[in-house]
Amino acid sequence: MEDGYAALAGRLAGAAAEARRVVEEAHTREELEAARVRFLGRQGEITLVLRSLGKVPAEARPELGRLANEARAEVERLVEERSRALDEAELERRLEAEAVDITLPGTVPLPGTYHPLTLAWAEVERIFTAMGFEVAEGPEVETDWYNFQALNIPRDHPARDMQASFYFTPDVLLRTQTSPVQVRYMRSHTPRLPVKIIAPGRVFRRDDDATHSPVFHQVEGLLVDEGVTMGDLKGVLDVFAREMYGKLARTRFRPSYFPFTEPSAEVDVSCTLCGGAGCRVCGGSGWLEILGAGMVHPDVLRNGGYDPEVVSGFAFGMGIERVAMLRYGIDDIRLLYGGDVRFLRQFRPAGEGGDQA
Ligand code: PHE
Repeated sequence: MEDGYAALAGRLAGAAAEARRVVEEAHTREELEAARVRFLGRQGEITLVLRSLGKVPAEARPELGRLANEARAEVERLVEERSRALDEAELERRLEAEAVDITLPGTVPLPGTYHPLTLAWAEVERIFTAMGFEVAEGPEVETDWYNFQALNIPRDHPARDMQASFYFTPDVLLRTQTSPVQVRYMRSHTPRLPVKIIAPGRVFRRDDDATHSPVFHQVEGLLVDEGVTMGDLKGVLDVFAREMYGKLARTRFRPSYFPFTEPSAEVDVSCTLCGGAGCRVCGGSGWLEILGAGMVHPDVLRNGGYDPEVVSGFAFGMGIERVAMLRYGIDDIRLLYGGDVRFLRQFRPAGEGGDQA
């Protein structure tokens, strides 16, 4: 049947031409799959031609079969090619979208640094523990008895005016000095000798101006044993001064008064800036006051449970802020509390060894 042959050949050619167009225009995986089904699926246009070959006259069958098989192979190949092209386009899109610009500079992590007060505190501990002092602690909320009375400062004593206090009740306050640790430590260790401690920590006073903070830091020192003299105090403080401020640092004792030491002294160190020649920092005197000290008063030894007839001792107290300022050349105490990163960044990064800022 010539008609059947011509009609089927025509359908085939039309389907193949349409398939080329549709496959070429498929821009998504779904469109391509729809195109494949339309021509090659079980009810596909080319599939149907192949199935109907049985009804074609025998003499036309080989030629028509060849044409149909060629058409199917061609469309299969086109679908295959288009599929690969879509894969490539998809990959291209993802590479572009997920591209990392490795030429951009990275975010540099900002390492933390130790606060100069922390450095000074650690340095003080290092120097005194190397001389055999143990580090002791006491409470920041203290009783009036430990903070004052046990230290020879009764309720009406004028020395209380020098240390304006934060009171919770008439008997409980924020400690104004680290000296109460002297008595606390002695009472909990008597009759052990020697008593050889430093006690660093926070102290609180009710003044707040450009040169005073209501919270600041002190280190107490206490050495009690048989035969301790002022010479021992001088020797220990000389070692401290040289370790903290350099080999050429010297100390000077000036007579002073504290209710809990007798005799008492203010201790100066040779100016850390000019070495003693006189400059702006030391006001031309060549000396800088760094701490208060003296021989522990017999009453204080007794309050600590030790017999002043048998033992003697020295004590000292210094401000850690002052140590930090002299050691690191900081000229305004407010820098220590401001939290300004530009200031703090100049000190030793946390986690680094050594004792230099
Ligand atoms: N506690 C004194 C003060 O805060 C310092 C000091 C301590 C003086 C020990 C002598 C002995 O001023």
